Amino acid sequence: MKILLIGNGAREHVIAETLKKNKETTLFSYIKSKNPGIVSLSNDFEVGNYNELEKIKNFAQKIKPDFAFVGPEEPLNKGVVDLLNKLKIDAVGPTKNLARLETSKSFTRNLLEKYRIEGNPKFKIFNKNNVNDAKKFIDDLEQCVIKPDGLTGGKGVQVQGDHFKTKKEALDYCNEVLQAHPSVIVEEKLEGEEFSLQCLTDGKTVIATPPVQDHKRAFVDDKGPNTGGMGSYSCEDHLLPFLTKKNIEEGLKITQKVADAIYRETGEFYRGVMYAGLIATKNGVKLLEYNARFGDPEAMNVLPLMETDFVDVSNAIISQQLHKIKIKFQNKATVCKYLVPDGYPDNPLKNEKIEIGKIPQNAKLYYASVEQREDGLYTTTSRAIACFGIADNLEKAERIAEEATSSIKGRLFHREDIGTKKLVEKRVMHMKEILR
Ligand code: GLY
Repeated sequence: MKILLIGNGAREHVIAETLKKNKETTLFSYIKSKNPGIVSLSNDFEVGNYNELEKIKNFAQKIKPDFAFVGPEEPLNKGVVDLLNKLKIDAVGPTKNLARLETSKSFTRNLLEKYRIEGNPKFKIFNKNNVNDAKKFIDDLEQCVIKPDGLTGGKGVQVQGDHFKTKKEALDYCNEVLQAHPSVIVEEKLEGEEFSLQCLTDGKTVIATPPVQDHKRAFVDDKGPNTGGMGSYSCEDHLLPFLTKKNIEEGLKITQKVADAIYRETGEFYRGVMYAGLIATKNGVKLLEYNARFGDPEAMNVLPLMETDFVDVSNAIISQQLHKIKIKFQNKATVCKYLVPDGYPDNPLKNEKIEIGKIPQNAKLYYASVEQREDGLYTTTSRAIACFGIADNLEKAERIAEEATSSIKGRLFHREDIGTKKLVEKRVMHMKEILR
């Protein structure tokens, strides 16, 4: 079984590891830079950018894979699945048209509205021609969230009270967004606790993986700027301490309806990952956004738990046979903590050497934006290494992940609080207050 993996972060490292659990897998990777984790699992690899479609095409034609797995959003947005399909290569990952679920927030909000799917907050979409109407909409909302209509690496969404204070600032940010994006979405701010529900779909059947909570802010206690995600945890009961089973069912129901709706809207079946960024509120579960791929770091919380063969799951996604398999996950807790370069996300220190010592038992490292050079491992401009712990409960998993961070030396930092009892209790108290 020859598999082409596209992408070179920690998410793709764990995807590679999970696909390689099947002894028949021969892995070929298309990567932006030499990720030592992915390279060591690959028979061959090609280094190139995601917009170099000709290069991807040549590599794919050379290796003739049985299927491809696309990790990040950027190549999906460039149409890499359309390209592969033209070469008669199946892929886990949506076409460019379907990837709008992530790449166009206006598309997704409008889809939910058109097909009367629950989960949308109050929202309006503005462009350069009608941005003057945004003031009234913002004034009518108690507090708002401003979202650029396009890819921003998880860093473009601004929330009133967190990133800006006044309605004037909200309007100014709308105008700023419109300099770089075709439209901007203004939404009511939802109060609640966020969680990620990564679902696998063949366009018909939708299967949820265990829920995960990510931590977007750079510093301990949810301070500092937004990042791609500083770390995440999942629990052994496949719930989160602030969620009910009903919350998960609501999230899955929304995603099932969206999978149906996107087919009705486009005539294409979505084959891949539908990652719902959800929020549990006092009025039930609402949709913050979709991603058209696994989360990073959230992929690391679910894939190591998968007991079912991931190659079989991928084939079932492609051949639309997902209804025939039951995907099993171990009842274990996981914690992932990202080591990131000093200065991340605004001024990350790149080209800094990273030294790796002895890793504790049960811990794993997943390599992200690092570069293997002849004399060792170096930081680039983004998250460097994910330290992962897995155990029977959250407390133990957190300790393992934290210990793993101590074995890595370099000009790096991480959030010590992710997965700790103190932070999880804070989330639980917050949810209780919301529901009061
Ligand atoms: N952890 C957030 C994301 O993958 O977009």
